[in-house]
Amino acid sequence: MTQRSPREQALVIGGRGGIGRAVAKYWCEDPRFDAVWEVSRHAPNKDSQSGQPRSLQTDHSEKDIEEVCREVVEESSRLSRVVIALGTLHGADYGPEKSLDALRRAAMEEVYRVNCVLPMLWLSALAPGLRKNPDCRVAVLSARVGSIGDNGLGGWYSYRSAKAALNMGLKSASIELARRAKGVKLIAFHPGTVDTALSEPFQRGVPEGKLFTADFVAERLSGVLDEHNANGQISYLDWAGKPIPW
Ligand SMILES: NC(=O)c1ccc[n+]([C@@H]2O[C@H](COP(=O)([O-])OP(=O)(O)OC[C@H]3O[C@@H](n4cnc5c(N)ncnc54)[C@H](OP(=O)(O)O)[C@@H]3O)[C@@H](O)[C@H]2O)c1
Repeated sequence: MTQRSPREQALVIGGRGGIGRAVAKYWCEDPRFDAVWEVSRHAPNKDSQSGQPRSLQTDHSEKDIEEVCREVVEESSRLSRVVIALGTLHGADYGPEKSLDALRRAAMEEVYRVNCVLPMLWLSALAPGLRKNPDCRVAVLSARVGSIGDNGLGGWYSYRSAKAALNMGLKSASIELARRAKGVKLIAFHPGTVDTALSEPFQRGVPEGKLFTADFVAERLSGVLDEHNANGQISYLDWAGKPIPW
């Protein structure tokens, strides 16, 4: 039997974060792909060898986002998988707010920017290229705490509302893409609680067996994307492939 040569490409935006890095690594070992791009703020790997992602650096300015997307689309014969894995929950001078009186403008703006504005700008710049790539499946890292229906605990104002805003942006994008890029599947993805820098300060209360490795989640994310053809609708799914209420 003749072996099919690889002819698909994958793109991971936020490729040096815990989850993004694991996804790029997972796809580098997947024989379907002959190129995997990872985009991050960090300097590209100079001596990137075969079997490793091709690194592209970005400052996330609109001009740069457009240039990176143009380069990836031009160099791709068939871009079939995209993951946008950008997010922040805490930084040097901010963290998830427990009460209304903890809200600060600068922290809110930063959390909105990284969790919602940047992923939507990347999707916007990628959209023209997605139209040329049939059956391209795009996962954007959201979170269960972005679900309005599921919010029984409150708190985490900036992160929850930034992810809810992201979900709404993705929902609108799916309606537009269903008309203008029929072959694209969008998934708002909740990875579970994953052992990365983002969750590190909040891992103490996680029940045993519920703190996932990034490698496990990369495999799940890839599997969930494989299971979903473009059907003109967005899905909001967790790591097990189960739907989350909006
Ligand atoms: N870990 C969890 O338990 C968990 C749970 C639910 C949802 N999520 C979501 O999963 C996604 C990935 O998170 P992670 O766990 O892999 O976290 P992480 O290791 O902290 O990675 C964060 C990612 O966001 C990017 N980023 C952070 N701050 C940024 C800034 N100021 N400007 C531009 N980019 C910035 C990083 O970019 P670089 O690649 O350039 O470093 C990195 O790719 C996020 O959307 C997060 O909300 C995670």
